[in-house]
Amino acid sequence: MKEYKVLRNLETNRWQEYKDLKLESLVEEPLAFLPGLEAYQPWTDEQWKKDLESHQVLPYKLIFVEADKKIIAIADMYYYPDTLLKHNIFLMSLYVQKKWRGKGIGRELIEERIKIAKEDPKIKNIICEIFSSQTASLELHKKVGFEVVGNVKDFILVDGQYYDKTILEKSI
Ligand SMILES: CC(C)(COP(=O)(O)OP(=O)(O)OC[C@H]1O[C@@H](n2cnc3c(N)ncnc32)[C@H](O)[C@@H]1OP(=O)(O)O)[C@@H](O)C(=O)NCCC(=O)NCCS
Repeated sequence: MKEYKVLRNLETNRWQEYKDLKLESLVEEPLAFLPGLEAYQPWTDEQWKKDLESHQVLPYKLIFVEADKKIIAIADMYYYPDTLLKHNIFLMSLYVQKKWRGKGIGRELIEERIKIAKEDPKIKNIICEIFSSQTASLELHKKVGFEVVGNVKDFILVDGQYYDKTILEKSI
């Protein structure tokens, strides 16, 4: 039996777990996520609660992985409803706690979001942007069928070093 399960929703009363994991991801992987820790540090508990509550359904949806009765991985996705872009869905953050990596959890979180995207017949493209520092994530997305469609050179500057951004797409 698998030691973890993917959750499409998380009860609002578990907002502290969501907050802890999100902040952990920003501390542990500062090169993976924008806009970075500074943007979230001032949030009140009420804001965290609201953020979790309002992101259970598209257009901005979070999904989670639970193991040992705790949230150990998180991912989100977004699309722009009622616009000329409404057939594109964007995979955003993806974070698996260090001790749970290499067990297929990252892959499952991508596949679950692809499944969610496919449930909406409007969606044609799944798009994802990854910084060149995140080689594991790049490899993982290619493995599940994403194709590299572009590259933005020197997109972010962290501690004096520039990193490119790679744009990947999967058509459905
Ligand atoms: C990227 C991340 C989500 C992968 O999660 P994971 O649960 O360890 O990934 P999986 O076990 O599902 O790996 C599936 C595939 O991804 C690739 N992969 C995973 N880790 C890798 C690594 N360190 N180096 C190269 N490829 C890797 C492999 O192709 C692997 O397939 P395999 O097991 O058949 O070799 C995780 O490393 C993480 O949270 N990293 C920090 C945050 C981050 O970079 N997020 C992405 C921002 S876009």
